[in-house]
Amino acid sequence: MVQIQVVEFNGAIHDVEALEGQTLLQATLDAGIDGFAAECGGCCVCATCHCMVQTEALHRLAPAASDEEQMLDFTAEPREPNSRLACQIKITPEHAGIQFFMPKRQY
Ligand code: FES
Repeated sequence: MVQIQVVEFNGAIHDVEALEGQTLLQATLDAGIDGFAAECGGCCVCATCHCMVQTEALHRLAPAASDEEQMLDFTAEPREPNSRLACQIKITPEHAGIQFFMPKRQY
């Protein structure tokens, strides 16, 4: 298990225990947290699983692949330098303790 935190737009902080290799999207859904519409089910074609990574921890994630990079231009809330798609983040032990922030809206 990898302990991470998911922070809703309203400030609610959730401790989430993710499985290694699981996506951030799946870990968040399994924890029963709303906030990712994830319309495409994790196929990297909808941009409704937008999140922002704790800035200081950004370097601990593998860089976005080109398809994620392209989809990040279609998020409902403006793309930030620390924006990522939750369905494309595979949780590893290096991610322990990272906070992931949800935007105000996904549409
Ligand atoms: S769930 Fe559709 S891009 Fe992530």
